[in-house]
Parts: sequence; C-alpha cells; structure tokens
Amino acid sequence: METTIVEIEHLNKSFGNNHVLRDINLKIEKGENLVVFGKSGSGKSVLIKCLVDLIEPDEGKVVLFGKTMSDLNDDELNALRKKVGFLFQSAALYDSMTVRENLEFPLRDLKTKAKEEIEALVFEVLKSVGLEDAIDKMPSELSGGMRKRVGLARTLILKPELILYDEPTTGLDPITSKEISKLILDVQSKYHTASIIITHDVECARITSNRMIIIKDGICYAEGTFKELSESKDEWVRSFFK
Ligand SMILES: Nc1ncnc2c1ncn2[C@@H]1O[C@H](COP(=O)(O)OP(=O)(O)OP(=O)(O)O)[C@@H](O)[C@H]1O
Ligand SMILES: [Mg+2]
Repeated sequence: METTIVEIEHLNKSFGNNHVLRDINLKIEKGENLVVFGKSGSGKSVLIKCLVDLIEPDEGKVVLFGKTMSDLNDDELNALRKKVGFLFQSAALYDSMTVRENLEFPLRDLKTKAKEEIEALVFEVLKSVGLEDAIDKMPSELSGGMRKRVGLARTLILKPELILYDEPTTGLDPITSKEISKLILDVQSKYHTASIIITHDVECARITSNRMIIIKDGICYAEGTFKELSESKDEWVRSFFK
C-alpha cells in the first residue's frame, strides 16, 4: 500500500536574486507529524506554499498522494488541493458569519450533502476542538484561542489527508498554545492525517512532532526526532530549543 503522502525532490525557489530554497528533499508518511524549524525568512512558508502550488517551484519535483504536481491540469490540481487543509497564522474567520456558518462555508460546493449530514459534520468537528457550545456565536465573541480552534475545525470539516499548519500557536499564551498543540495531536490520532507544522514554539514541537527538520540556507540542514535535535552536537541546532 502506498503510504507516502508527500515527496519533495530537489526543490528550488528564488525570488529575483533571493535564492530561498536551494535543494529541499523531504518525505512525509501517512499519519506523520513533521515539525519545521528555521529562522524567520528561511523559507518555511514558501516551502508549504510550493507544496500546494500556491507558489510555483523553479525546479524540483513535488509528489502529493502519489501524483506529480507539475503533471496535473487545473481540475486535477483543485481535486488534489481538496485533500489538503491549511491553518494559516491568521486563521481568519468570516466576521459577519456565526461559527456554524463559518464551518458550513467550505462545504458549499458539496451540494450533494443533505442538511442533516452537514449539521452532523459541523457538530463533529466542533466537538473535536471542544467548542460545541460556541456554535451560534459570532467570531467577535470568541477569544484568540477559540478562534484558532474554530479555524482548525473549519480545516477539519473537509476531512483532509494532509494538514499544513503555519505557526498555529503564535500570539497565544503558553497555556492556550499547549491546548492547541494537544489538539493537533488529537487530530492526528483521530483522523490519521499527516501534518506539516511550522512553528517557533519549542513546546509545540515537543508535543506534536514525530520528526523534525530545520531549514538553513535553503536546505534541510538538520533532521531527526525532537530528542535527537534538541541534544544535537551542533550548537546552532541546539539553539532553537532554548
Ligand atoms: N511572494 C513572494 N515574493 C517575493 N519574495 C517572497 C515571496 N514570498 C516569500 N518571499 C521571500 O522568501 C523568503 C522566505 O520567506 P518565508 O515567508 O518562507 O519565510 P519564513 O521562514 O516563513 O519566515 P517567518 O518565520 O518569518 O514566517 C523571504 O526572504 C521572503 O521575503
Ligand atoms: Mg512564515
């Protein structure tokens, strides 16, 4: 059985003279949480944008769910993107819609789903993030942490096979950050999703990661488990864990 979700080979991306990604090679297996560390501006966000073709790579191969991205036409790309969930740093909800309406929004194209089915899905994902009681609230009535949870629920509603988290805990207090990190772990075990988690939060990396990479000068400079990297002989690698 094919269990590799993401395969990246020799990925290169420049913006003008700024050679951001030089040679990224990476594999992610089904159900695996990969945490990506790297200094600000090292290309972490660019990497995950290349993965879903929001940014077109200059060179290299990206294989998602066994399909080579550059071989696909627009319809095929869109179908593939539906299997990928994003949780961007600004998990922007629609302010004029209730939590329920925000969650129903990604389902709008699936006209085949019955009303009851949609309702059940909304409840399921809200329950996964512990926010059943907030279903009829407006985003303005929610705290930052709660909004992040609703954002995650909205990502989950399409049952993605791969979730890309860009700094899921940034801007949250340590306790709420820990709750979100645990939620990422819950999502992994409940839905068997693979995830890429970009973060600067050591505690988030400790809680969520099965494996980690650190990007430096456009390559995967270091790779290993949280324990291996946090105890690395390389002082620069260790410095991320302080
Ligand atoms: N669309 C773009 N056009 C031009 N340059 C870009 C574009 N997107 C990113 N860059 C550049 O690519 C480099 C990497 O950016 P990226 O956003 O991936 O960094 P990052 O590792 O995510 O940083 P941070 O931790 O601050 O979020 C930066 O120098 C940035 O200016
Ligand atoms: Mg970024």
